[in-house]
Amino acid sequence: MKTIVFPSIKGGSGKSSNSIMLSNFLGQAGMRVLCIDMDINNSMSFYYVSDAELMDTHSIADALHSGDLSGNVIPTDQLDNIHIIPSSFHLVNLRAISHMTLKRMLPQVSESYDYCIIDSPPTWDNIVLNALYAADLVITPVSLAQWDWKGASFFRDQIVQDLGPEFLERWYLLINYFVRPRTDNPENFTNQLIQLFNDSFENILPFRIPETTLVERYIDLDEGISKSKRKIKLFSAVQELVQFVTGSPLDVEVF
Ligand SMILES: Nc1ncnc2c1ncn2[C@@H]1O[C@H](COP(=O)(O)OP(=O)(O)O)[C@@H](O)[C@H]1O
Ligand SMILES: [Mg+2]
Repeated sequence: MKTIVFPSIKGGSGKSSNSIMLSNFLGQAGMRVLCIDMDINNSMSFYYVSDAELMDTHSIADALHSGDLSGNVIPTDQLDNIHIIPSSFHLVNLRAISHMTLKRMLPQVSESYDYCIIDSPPTWDNIVLNALYAADLVITPVSLAQWDWKGASFFRDQIVQDLGPEFLERWYLLINYFVRPRTDNPENFTNQLIQLFNDSFENILPFRIPETTLVERYIDLDEGISKSKRKIKLFSAVQELVQFVTGSPLDVEVF
């Protein structure tokens, strides 16, 4: 099982959307996927599960508290081969747990899944550290904006300080909300920001998730993403993300 976490210090950067799109594409391609929602905002849990009682009785907070990870897995409404451990407000009571708790528990589920996708909160706390220590791959979504550049710089410093510089090898930036600049003039604002990011980070993924209302409609209205003319840009970007994560080209008609 390969574990991927989407963390960022900034809210609204696309952690939940990209976690969900990646999970669904992998699920459509036949992979066994375990989602773990570690953000008390519950975005991923609400997307995947409509049974409120199941969500009340199963959560990552209970799992971390009790040591029982596999017993907190529930099915999703989406696909038979995508399961989830939902989030819970009780995560706030776990401020003191060890950073290694989740990593130590993952062997309980690692034979049952090909991929584990973790959504995380826009903070830097021991819940995020649990997700980071458990992860093989860490993907931080950013938009081309000054504040995101600051956030990513801060995030890198925190990784070096708390996990050590060697951990940076697992960390990548995913440009989200990408709008192609109309010109390659270096004075253009977007081109300046691209330059700033490129000068500061060596870990920027070569594909970008476009800015499109399709993302919101995908999550809120369950509108599938296919290779139709209107959707091919988003489809291709997510497909490239999947290829980066899996190391092999996977294809589906729609996800
Ligand atoms: N590439 C994108 N284009 C347009 N809207 C997006 C894009 N990515 C995310 N969004 C929208 O932005 C909002 C925040 O995204 P979300 O994934 O929930 O961020 P986070 O989990 O980091 O807080 C959502 O309403 C989502 O639909
Ligand atoms: Mg979120």
